[in-house]
Amino acid sequence: MRIDIITVVPELLVSPLNESILRRAQEGGFVEIKIHNLRDYTDDKRRTVDDYPFGGEAGMVMKIEPVYRCITALQSERHYDEVIFTSPDGVPYNQHEANRLSTLENIIILCGHYKGIDYRIREHLITREISIGDYVLTGGELAAAIITDSVVRLLPGAIGDEASALTDCFQDNLLAPPIYTRPADFNGWKVPQVLMSGNFAEIERWQEEQAYERTKSLRPDLLEE
Ligand code: ADE
Repeated sequence: MRIDIITVVPELLVSPLNESILRRAQEGGFVEIKIHNLRDYTDDKRRTVDDYPFGGEAGMVMKIEPVYRCITALQSERHYDEVIFTSPDGVPYNQHEANRLSTLENIIILCGHYKGIDYRIREHLITREISIGDYVLTGGELAAAIITDSVVRLLPGAIGDEASALTDCFQDNLLAPPIYTRPADFNGWKVPQVLMSGNFAEIERWQEEQAYERTKSLRPDLLEE
């Protein structure tokens, strides 16, 4: 898979995308992540990427030309399955969408910035608008990092234990069951006996029950879906 991220603040993406699993996934050839500085697609000396809004509202607007140049340059090199825009008024992001994106070959993520982006970009160039939650960030870079992180860890081979991504929270619309490691007794706080019984059928039944009970009490909305 290849992920191209377009941003006016590339520095914000360096650390989140170059440590731990994401670094290893790139080194192992499971994903290619390319960051593009939108200012490299400007044609004026000051490398301007924003301008005042028509209609005289407060705040600056991301200009159409650099975005158009960058996206069409990428599209002239390969087909992209989605051109994503990160924005608080996008479709709420969840595990189903992460799963879907992880099956695609090439995606572009355009990070929103400033007060907003010239709406013609959204109308003509963007195929999917994603919000990571009902709150407003200073820019879309952290949202792009979250989307990339959640997608890359699903790519076959990206995390060592392949079964692990399939048993994550939210796969099957259930929260994960509690998990423990040694010591079995810490200051009298004991690990549930069943996990040490060696009876795998019983352990699996217990885990399913726990996943259901935790979901029912913490996220009943997931059971309604
Ligand atoms: N940019 C600013 N806030 C955002 C959000 N909640 N989701 C995605 N992109 C954003």
